[in-house]
Amino acid sequence: MQKFLSFALLVGLALASDVLELTDDDFEDTVAEQDIILVEFFAPWCGHCKKLAPEYEKAATDLKYSDPSVPLAKVDCTAEKDTCSRYGVSGYPTLKVFRDGEASDYNGPRSADGIIDYMKKQAGPTSREAKTVEDIDKLLSGKDLLVVGCFTDDSDAKKEFLKFAGSERDNYKFVHTGEQAVLDRLGTENGDIVIFRPTHLQSKFEDSKIKFDGTVKSGNLKKFVKENSLGLCGHMTPDNHSQFKKPLCVVYYDVDYRKNTKGTNYWRNRIMKVAKKLSDKKIFFAVANREEFSHEVEANGLTDKSVDLPVVAIVTDEGHKYPMQADFTRDGKALEEFVNDYLDGKIEPYLKSEPIPESDDGPVKVIVAKNFQDIVMSEEKDVLIEFYAPWCGHCKSLAPKYDELAEKLSADDNIVIAKMDATANDVPPPFEVRGFPTLYWVPMNNKPKKYEGGREVDDFMKYIKREATKGLNIPKKAKKDKEEL
Ligand SMILES: *[C@@H]1O[C@H](CO)[C@@H](O)[C@H](O)[C@H]1NC(C)=O
Repeated sequence: MQKFLSFALLVGLALASDVLELTDDDFEDTVAEQDIILVEFFAPWCGHCKKLAPEYEKAATDLKYSDPSVPLAKVDCTAEKDTCSRYGVSGYPTLKVFRDGEASDYNGPRSADGIIDYMKKQAGPTSREAKTVEDIDKLLSGKDLLVVGCFTDDSDAKKEFLKFAGSERDNYKFVHTGEQAVLDRLGTENGDIVIFRPTHLQSKFEDSKIKFDGTVKSGNLKKFVKENSLGLCGHMTPDNHSQFKKPLCVVYYDVDYRKNTKGTNYWRNRIMKVAKKLSDKKIFFAVANREEFSHEVEANGLTDKSVDLPVVAIVTDEGHKYPMQADFTRDGKALEEFVNDYLDGKIEPYLKSEPIPESDDGPVKVIVAKNFQDIVMSEEKDVLIEFYAPWCGHCKSLAPKYDELAEKLSADDNIVIAKMDATANDVPPPFEVRGFPTLYWVPMNNKPKKYEGGREVDDFMKYIKREATKGLNIPKKAKKDKEEL
């Protein structure tokens, strides 16, 4: 009996979820009742959904008990087809925020902390009002950059500021105040709009308080906040990395503003010094936690460098990477030299690549990063390229069919069937590999298209027949041989 009870308890605990499950029958009503609710549209088989599930669960529990409370829900699109098609769901997972029943896309991060942070910003007022000196002190001691509007009367500027806050609430934290005592505390005047950097990012190398001067218009404000919010050297996390401008010089070390602000700023100040010197150049700086960004450190070939010193890499808009080979020096000289060399075009971008195979006689051409441009981006051939991982099961089951396809097309001089191990070679932009295998069709005009068709030989043949720039050119004989087989 005892055993049975504790078993029942365990099952009960395991089943208790704070994520609401919605169906075609109750979706509209439930969503319309909420001021705000986050909905995940998913499919049970989808890998990214499975990865999101524990994070989503954690966020749901936290947000259920936060103030204001924000519900999280999910809809299984393999069962609730009407709802999913009504909201145009075409990929999984799709997340949408519903405000009084009105849907908008969720553009936030997918970690529990990220979801919590994003939804709290969505649920709270677009701009917080600081009514007292205590209010503003509390806000200023937080971890966020603040954009503060000071208005002692209901001016047009105030309306414009609040409107702007509404449109940028995803990205920044807004505060407004009309209290003279608060203005005195801030050292501001009526009509001022001021950015305050969070305490942990303040330094002697730049102002921590930046005043907007210009006409209060959404466009101007947006430009002002964008240009000043990152400062000389921002703190980049997996949740906000997309806000950083490029070319970006990232310094990776044990950045930790929760437990070790002093140690973190010891290194950051050395970087700030260099950043300040180079502040009129087209390069931006950030610090990031080496472990949280271990994939980037790895992608730059920096994993083996000593963990006692920061490691550095520059990334560009085109996706090129420039790792710093020299050791970081405490005087910042090595960093300065490296960035200057980059700016002077003296450094070659880093490519992770296997060596070009010496002989490549198989039907499927083996591509590596070093010959990718020459073969895949050739203007003389149409190329079907498979990005695979050696450990991936779906890739293994595709292999014999892919060989057969390549064999069939081997007589066609205009078409190349190719594959690349995307774990050992860099995938160049604009190709995006999120899962394995990923296939792209790269016609002679070099406008790649993701191949999303079936994975049987016939499916490929039909597709290629339709897409081939010069049609299929398989000599009769080759065709006949095949038929006889
Ligand atoms: C990114 O997030 C970190 C941690 O919350 C914060 O310290 C930093 O200021 C944020 N950076 C930007 C640009 O939002």
